[in-house]
Amino acid sequence: MLGLFLPLQQGAWSPSTWTRGTSWSFDYNAECAVRADEFGFDLVFGLAQWLGKGGYGGQMQFRANATDPLLVTAGLAPLTRNVILISTVHILYGWHPLHLAKFAASIDHMSHGRWGLNVVTGYKKSEYEMFGIAPIEHDLRYRMADEFCALMRRLWAEDENLTTEGRWWRMKDAFVAPKPVHGSVLMVNAASSGAGLEFAAQHSDLIFITSPAGANLDRACEALPAHNARIKALARAHGREVRTIINPHVICRETEREARAQYRAILEHQDPVAADNFHATFAGGDQSSWRAATREDWVIGGNVHVVGSPEQVVEAFARLHAAGCDGVQVNFYDYLPDLEFFGTRVVPLMAEAGLRRALTC
Ligand SMILES: Cc1cc2nc3c(=O)[nH]c(=O)nc-3n(C[C@H](O)[C@H](O)[C@H](O)COP(=O)(O)O)c2cc1C
Repeated sequence: MLGLFLPLQQGAWSPSTWTRGTSWSFDYNAECAVRADEFGFDLVFGLAQWLGKGGYGGQMQFRANATDPLLVTAGLAPLTRNVILISTVHILYGWHPLHLAKFAASIDHMSHGRWGLNVVTGYKKSEYEMFGIAPIEHDLRYRMADEFCALMRRLWAEDENLTTEGRWWRMKDAFVAPKPVHGSVLMVNAASSGAGLEFAAQHSDLIFITSPAGANLDRACEALPAHNARIKALARAHGREVRTIINPHVICRETEREARAQYRAILEHQDPVAADNFHATFAGGDQSSWRAATREDWVIGGNVHVVGSPEQVVEAFARLHAAGCDGVQVNFYDYLPDLEFFGTRVVPLMAEAGLRRALTC
């Protein structure tokens, strides 16, 4: 599987002021999504994050502006043809399952069955506080998410009005029509903790994983086989098959030398305040993902760094695939030109290497 991490946030993944045209604007993201669709990507994905004024700050005001992925994916529906559009939603920030079941079914119809939901429970105390909600303990969040998703599924499945009293949500004579095109939307989440993976095993079709060993490709490829095997075994214990996907930051140029020069330039032009604040977010919080990532890893972004010529990038993807990852969702630095080069030079080589298999909802 091949995905594109959309740059909905100002500065995307890299707190660096090195030159680039990447923009958080809808038009820019739409161009990225349309191009990814034309290059045969399986999915595009939007992150959701709630930051105060100035985002992560620094000279570049990293992530100060960011559009909402739910609305962006709705907007992308009529502009794209085949690519699956995945939106993140923080389901515990004041949502009712009936809202999201209805919105999901609506966007799924707008995209003719090409919509996916990345369920996140929110790992930042500051986000909960923005919504006036007391932060919820980590594992409890996943128990709540379990009830929330089970209720959405019932709303998608049932032919009669639903009256139910859950532990956290209740409804009387609730109904959703139309149902999602394929009965459900593609369900996604990202997890590393026991509770997060248990939730994923029960609810998700696709699981975003992070490297348990930081962004270095060699170390990631040593740690990933056991990690992927554990996740898939967990899903099988629930009688389900899940696919895992990882998000490498790709810096690809005609030669390795040029790619490495770009890597160094991004690092050398880091915005120190933004980088400190960005790194502190992941070093803090109660999430288990990204624990091994260093501050320098975060200046580049993504959770594995893939740097080199088109052939080397494909070789790296083959190694990630051999390590049990079913897909890669790539981030870039200078999105449109990087995507153009990647689509033209790398995607055909991936197909030749047998690394492309279409994802269906
Ligand atoms: C690829 C990827 C995308 C993610 N997207 C979001 C997001 O958009 N918003 C968010 O709050 N958390 C996001 N997360 C964080 C996860 O929701 C989760 O908090 C994290 O992976 C920790 O997992 P854990 O709860 O099992 O410790 C993402 C994680 C990954 C790996």
